Amino acid sequence: MIVGLETSCDDTAVGVVSQGVVRANRVASQVPVHQRFGGVVPEVAARNHLLTVLPTLEAALADAGIAPSAVRGLAVTNRPGLIGPLLVGVHTAKALALVWQVPLVGVHHIEAHVWAAMLQAERPTLPFLALAVSGGHTSLYRVEGPGQMTCLGRTLDDAAGECFDKGARLLGLGYPGGPEVDRLAALGDPGRFSLPRGMLGRNDGAFSFSGLKTALRLLVERLVAEGAAIEGQLQADLCASFQATLVEQLVRVTGEVARAHGLPDVVLAGGVAANRGLRAAMHDFGHRHGLRVWPVPLGLCTDNGAMVAGLGEALLEAGLRDDPDTLDAVPTGALRQAARAAEV
Ligand code: KG4
Ligand code: ZN
Repeated sequence: MIVGLETSCDDTAVGVVSQGVVRANRVASQVPVHQRFGGVVPEVAARNHLLTVLPTLEAALADAGIAPSAVRGLAVTNRPGLIGPLLVGVHTAKALALVWQVPLVGVHHIEAHVWAAMLQAERPTLPFLALAVSGGHTSLYRVEGPGQMTCLGRTLDDAAGECFDKGARLLGLGYPGGPEVDRLAALGDPGRFSLPRGMLGRNDGAFSFSGLKTALRLLVERLVAEGAAIEGQLQADLCASFQATLVEQLVRVTGEVARAHGLPDVVLAGGVAANRGLRAAMHDFGHRHGLRVWPVPLGLCTDNGAMVAGLGEALLEAGLRDDPDTLDAVPTGALRQAARAAEV
């Protein structure tokens, strides 16, 4: 039984994984706390993590039906993320590792998102290509194993989740906007408005979403100036057109990189991988181009502790671990940490 702690942003999450099977996955969401600010306030998030981390751990152990003595290892997101929130998880994990006398490993948040694809009965074949799409990241990785991930492409400006959230705000929707856009897009006409589709003709794994965001802003301003109210069917059509354009770019660039690097297994990971339009479009593209598409199971797309425990279990099995006296929280952390690279 491996316990994973995740506190890098606004969710306090604890998961329990054993042999790649999720035994518990508790998330204490702070969405109601940050909603009135329209985004995450780091200091407020850190203080809430302090209040919720131990009760969430207790609840997860109860869900898994185990006592602390059954825990064989601990994993914690120690990079990248908001420094205050990260520190709460890292220090909690270090203290628990010392008290429980179990090995500890720090994990990279995005790598944990990607590794969540392995927490299902049927798994992608290594090496695979992973599209990691979250609130802060939009990147493509070649994944060869736990701790072995190489970046093949990334966004030049906004992350896809950030674009969803900013677009949602322009359309009068609340925070976080991605799920709301997803819901309304299903009711709208994706062909009603034509928006810029990113950097067509570039073939290097680069994404760009700032032009789309600006075009949506100008479109909304024009519609409002013409007297339209952004609600009802118009709002749904705007959501559908905006989502379809964003998704089209994600699928196109991912498909290009999969072909260029000869990687037929494609994982979709991160909060935005929960998007129904993206999952459907990527499956459809896969059918047409001979790719096997592996979206992370729906309950494991947005931030959670099971993904941290899952990657932690794989890293510990590979012999990797961190010293509970020295493990640090690193806001901009690299994929592979220097100290661990020496051990590999
Ligand atoms: O991975 P995640 O939970 O946290 C980060 O590491 O950032 O991703 C959160 C992001 C937010 O931008 C949220 O709007 C987006 O994922 N998101 C979605 C959906 N569910 C969450 N975006 C589009 N469609 C969804 N269904
Ligand atoms: Zn995340």
